[in-house]
Amino acid sequence: MLSPIGVFDSGYGGLTVFKSIVAALPQYDYIYLGDNARAPYGNRSFETVHEYTLQCVEWFFEQGCELVIIACNTASAKALRTIQQQDLPGIAPEKRVLGVIRPTAEVIGNYSKTRHVGVLGTRGTVNSQSYLIEINKFFPDIKVEQLACPLWVPIVEYGEYNSEGTDFFVKKYLDQLLAADKDIDTILLACTHYPILMEKIKKYLPTGISVIAQGDIVAESLKDYLHRHPEMENRISKGGKLSFYTTDDPSDFSEHATLFFGRPVEAQHLHLQ
Ligand code: DGL
Repeated sequence: MLSPIGVFDSGYGGLTVFKSIVAALPQYDYIYLGDNARAPYGNRSFETVHEYTLQCVEWFFEQGCELVIIACNTASAKALRTIQQQDLPGIAPEKRVLGVIRPTAEVIGNYSKTRHVGVLGTRGTVNSQSYLIEINKFFPDIKVEQLACPLWVPIVEYGEYNSEGTDFFVKKYLDQLLAADKDIDTILLACTHYPILMEKIKKYLPTGISVIAQGDIVAESLKDYLHRHPEMENRISKGGKLSFYTTDDPSDFSEHATLFFGRPVEAQHLHLQ
């Protein structure tokens, strides 16, 4: 049976990646799930993020999805490996769950001339060291300076991305990152919520420093993956249909999602036990 591609995030952030995926691959059917009721994941333990993410992945499998994209760095950093290596072989060995860290690490070194890259993410992503490890595999000459920005996800989730107070916290983390390494010429937004703060981020960065969001990178990588795996591509339904689910209030989700997705969204509620 043909099935949609599942796209998951702790909340709204994954919609910034989903938007790029749909633009690059509009022919497929998709189901997006935001676990808004339990977001943010960024400060939660490995065990909790794994438990929540696996529960959502299993829900996608119950919907028939053969391929699930974890469009969340925190869940990719803290749960993906365990899901791929320990859970999948037992529950659904023929299905695939892919994340956002590896495809980003594979190309981020290409953006930097100074070979100094700054990585901004949640505490969970930064503490996992996933970006340090993965970037080092592909670009051993790149020096990575990481910084956790624990307030940025709540600011975005609670709709405060445009308020004046946000400027303070945007500038604070950027100053801290650049003070730690003055040679950084490329900053990766290693959290799918952060592109919503792009305008303010650019406002406080010295010229000559590029800010990279992951959406298009992940979309290109998925395109390439499906090209290289026709056995998976053949199992995906092609009707261009998008469905949205949230574990919290669907009318709130529909209202806020437009900002992240770029067009109106009609969400349904999912009750997870
Ligand atoms: N969008 C998620 C990420 O990319 C945010 C994590 C959170 O829920 O704190 O890491």
